[in-house]
Amino acid sequence: MTTADGERVPATPGSSAPVASMAELLPDGLVVVGADRRVRLVNAEALRILDIPDPADLIGLPVDDVLPLTDKYGRDWWAHADPWDGAASRTGHLEKLLVGPRGKEVLVTARYVRSGLGGGDERVDRVMLGLRDAEARQRAERDQATVLSTVAHELRAPLTSVTGFTSSLLRRWERFTDEQKRLMIETIEADANRLTRLITELLDISRLDSDSLNLRLGPVDLHDLLRTHVVRHELGRATGAVRLELGDAAAEQGLPEMWADADRLEQIFFNLIENALRHGAGVVTVTLDRRGEWVVVRVDDEGDGIPPSDREKVFGRFWHGPSNASTGLGLYVVRGLVEAHGGTVTVEENEAGGARFDVRLPSGLPDVVSE
Ligand SMILES: Nc1ncnc2c1ncn2[C@@H]1O[C@H](COP(=O)(O)OP(=O)(O)OP(=O)(O)O)[C@@H](O)[C@H]1O
Ligand SMILES: [Mg+2]
Repeated sequence: MTTADGERVPATPGSSAPVASMAELLPDGLVVVGADRRVRLVNAEALRILDIPDPADLIGLPVDDVLPLTDKYGRDWWAHADPWDGAASRTGHLEKLLVGPRGKEVLVTARYVRSGLGGGDERVDRVMLGLRDAEARQRAERDQATVLSTVAHELRAPLTSVTGFTSSLLRRWERFTDEQKRLMIETIEADANRLTRLITELLDISRLDSDSLNLRLGPVDLHDLLRTHVVRHELGRATGAVRLELGDAAAEQGLPEMWADADRLEQIFFNLIENALRHGAGVVTVTLDRRGEWVVVRVDDEGDGIPPSDREKVFGRFWHGPSNASTGLGLYVVRGLVEAHGGTVTVEENEAGGARFDVRLPSGLPDVVSE
């Protein structure tokens, strides 16, 4: 506990030093105000929350001057709550969001400690305020609300076309030409696929965020996997759009044996190559190489690349560029899956000015739990 001149003293008159130092161990901020309405005690956590570095700005001074608290209606909380003169039955109040002296939002609980032996005339001897930082909680609540509204929005867009086109087709089937019908059904198919993918990504995200993603580990031939599943079948349909190459070290020594979840690896590289085709331009080159015992997969394109200021943001949830069909979940999932394998993924610029994504994966049996 601290006084105006920096001396360490017991917390309140009559209390012992051990009690005072225990206040410092509390996880929450604590402010005690005496019957004279002056601040008696303040712990370090309260100073941090209130953003007041010097306890001398509080201790011994009238609380309404040095610790003004305003409620959400802009009212002065001390005047409104009136702890000292209100009804004797009051014992305090539950957590409330108030604005502190430097505009900081603080969660405040109050306990009124009364003297006397009962009978209704006891006066308030001390007001104890418990303080908690409101920022972290508010940020979490805001994040959650943003995620919910983004998800709702993302799900609604493709559903609108599915419901719109199906009802048009059902009601006016004869009026459309075969060509028009085909176009509508193709759109419905594309949007239904988008919905499925979105929901799969959302489920992956919730698994990643709650640490409940299970990898099905097994020996993987990454070269074969990229060649067979990713480059040729999934994305290389426009011939020559995606090239798969082996780096020098891999060509000389071969690739180290890898243990990984083959489906998840496919998902990682499918996403990166699809991004390169969709957001980048030119030829997409996938280079498979080794660096010591690490396997490195590099995905290069010849587009405009990603400006340095956005290179961390692209891995965030829902962050995306101007493209219409973008959800901004792909790279978030990619990073989560790569890290679940004990690897890393980074982005920079290549010689052509395009984006270069490097995925480094450990070889051998990674230090993760298999199903
Ligand atoms: N190869 C690239 N070249 C340029 N910009 C890219 C590249 N890859 C990703 N980006 C940028 O990063 C953003 C986020 O990518 P991410 O894969 O997370 O989402 P998305 O592709 O927009 O949507 P989806 O959830 O369908 O993958 C993209 O919207 C794009 O602006
Ligand atoms: Mg993507």
